[in-house]
Amino acid sequence: MTDHVTVEDRNGVRTIRFNRPDKKNALTRAMYSAAAEAFETGNDDKGVRVYVLGGQDGMFTAGNDLMDFMEAPPHIGAAETPPVERFMRALLDASKPVIAEVDGVAVGIGTTLLMHCDLSYASTRAQFKTPFVDLALAPEYASSLLFPARLGRSPASELLLLGEVWTAARAKEAGLISDVFSPDALAGEVQARAESLAAKSPAALRQAKALMVSEPEALSERINREGGIFADMLQSPEFAEAATAFMERRKPDFSKF
Ligand code: COA
Repeated sequence: MTDHVTVEDRNGVRTIRFNRPDKKNALTRAMYSAAAEAFETGNDDKGVRVYVLGGQDGMFTAGNDLMDFMEAPPHIGAAETPPVERFMRALLDASKPVIAEVDGVAVGIGTTLLMHCDLSYASTRAQFKTPFVDLALAPEYASSLLFPARLGRSPASELLLLGEVWTAARAKEAGLISDVFSPDALAGEVQARAESLAAKSPAALRQAKALMVSEPEALSERINREGGIFADMLQSPEFAEAATAFMERRKPDFSKF
């Protein structure tokens, strides 16, 4: 294990932080493994309702550790899953909402991974950069699909071809992140949103997230699939609690689910 990733559970929120300040939080194999494990174990832990993924000391991450990359280049689909792939799969497979908290620089995979988080917030000093072409490398983890689809072809090319550095304001305008806060306010704003999610029905959150991240399908198929899930959930104790709370003019209590 490594000290370069910290994991803290508070009020239903599991906060995973990259913590290698002397190397600008550049990600090593040990760090990917530790962060992956935090997601994997959290999925089965009823006390964990939401994940926050962040950095430390005004730095999100300088991306993959370049020395590590050269020493042990990862191969997708290798017999033994490389730690970077284990981490990204764990992020993609997280059954609970993931909020990215970007204070400072997010290079390479630090920006790629935002496409696989449910919500992303940044500080005014955040910077986003995917210099793959400049490093004579290629886009990763479906960013070549997701950036153009979500940001538009031309903005995606600013990141993936030009390797431009985006400010937090540009990232918000382009829809890469939801909102921008001062560095002092960011962690509190993120924790408040995370705790708001943590108080909601876990089953309803899980279903809504799973529907949003599932592969595209025909509209009518999606409507039918949503309808089936909706009908099942109308029979659930969590819906009963939500409806009863409404009638009784109180806040629903999902803590026992
Ligand atoms: N891999 C390995 N080491 C890294 C690193 C990385 N991705 N990014 C930073 N470091 C190390 C530097 O080598 C330096 O180590 P040293 O003090 O032993 O010399 C230390 O972290 C501080 O980095 P430095 O460049 O001096 O800090 P800075 O504040 O001037 O710049 C960055 C910060 C993140 C903008 C800059 O370090 C950078 O561009 N890093 C490379 C990013 C990158 O290409 N990532 C890979 C994408 S696939």
